Amino acid sequence: MTAGNNKRKTLISGIQPSGQIHLGNWVGALKNWVRLQDDPNFECSFFVADYHSLSGDYDPQGKRCQIIETMTELLAVGLDPGKCTLFCQSDVPEHTELCWIFNTLTPLSFLERMTQFKDKSGQQDKNINLGLLDYPVLQAADILIHHGQAVPVGRDQVQHVELTRDIARFYNRKYGVDYFPEPEPYLTDTPKLRSLTDPLKKMSKSLGEKSYVALADAPEVILKKIKGAVSETEGRTTLSEKELDKLLSKLPEERGLDEETLRGQAGVWNLIGLLRLFGHEGEAQAILDSQPIRYGELKPLLAERIAERFADFRKRKRELEADPDRVLKIFAAGGERARETARKTMEDVRRTIGIR
Ligand code: ADP
Ligand code: TRP
Repeated sequence: MTAGNNKRKTLISGIQPSGQIHLGNWVGALKNWVRLQDDPNFECSFFVADYHSLSGDYDPQGKRCQIIETMTELLAVGLDPGKCTLFCQSDVPEHTELCWIFNTLTPLSFLERMTQFKDKSGQQDKNINLGLLDYPVLQAADILIHHGQAVPVGRDQVQHVELTRDIARFYNRKYGVDYFPEPEPYLTDTPKLRSLTDPLKKMSKSLGEKSYVALADAPEVILKKIKGAVSETEGRTTLSEKELDKLLSKLPEERGLDEETLRGQAGVWNLIGLLRLFGHEGEAQAILDSQPIRYGELKPLLAERIAERFADFRKRKRELEADPDRVLKIFAAGGERARETARKTMEDVRRTIGIR
């Protein structure tokens, strides 16, 4: 948590408590969190972004359970309080305080063009609240209040880290200081996992249960979800992965291929990508080499490999669920540590901006 008094880079990231942790979270972000907590070049903190999650549609009755479940799952996945600081965002109110200062530095037009804001405004069109728009500014405060330099996230969050860099620069320039660092996003080699039900979209809790595999899913549930995954019907990769990515980065009218074809190709590559990550050596290549791909073979194999990979996670989660006090204590202790740095930053900020 200490900023600037040693050579280690400050690394920080968060996850919303809005449902169970899924494979997209794992391959895009958490895999890096678990790896980097052991890297001596980094001082790591991870938190449950409960205030962020209020900007989505949610049930107040279930929120506390979701927060505790996310804390439990972060421990089950292998984050170790002996190696990193684990806390809950709302235990460190300085995050929201700094967000207000940053609000006064952030042009409205920057927020209106954020992809996540546009997507979510479409998904929850009866609840386009100000929090949804301000979401990336709170994220910038989360990072900068701890002087975060490295931010391991999935590809969808890169735009928010870039905005954080802008805000750090605006602050430093306006107040004539060199105080906040410009953090860098850290991506895994699978920065975007696709939804099982609509592979043109990212795997996300908000697309419904069938669209994602939760790390906690039982083997039979994983099999059912993978079997239901949308994929090219003929079992052929008619586009390479690179060609597919290139086409999908263009506007729909400039792609020259219909959406169904692209969806099928995105689906098949998503499954192959998962088998590359979770399968044994050579399994994905063997499937690719014997086209047409037999889904009756690929899907059960993939489901089995995913289930094997997270068997320990499921066991650890059950053990931790039997002792919720232990989980809460770990996060409370982490919150106190995080708060020390955050308080110090706010003292500096209040002085710098001229109100103290
Ligand atoms: P969700 O989108 O399911 O609500 P979060 O917003 O809580 O998930 O994301 C937590 C972390 O997981 C972020 O770093 C985010 O970029 C990453 N992430 C979420 N979905 C994916 C995905 N489909 N592929 C890669 N990374 C993802
Ligand atoms: N916005 C992130 C997401 O939806 C979660 C998050 C909140 C976050 N604050 C953060 C990630 C700070 C990295 C750093 O996934």
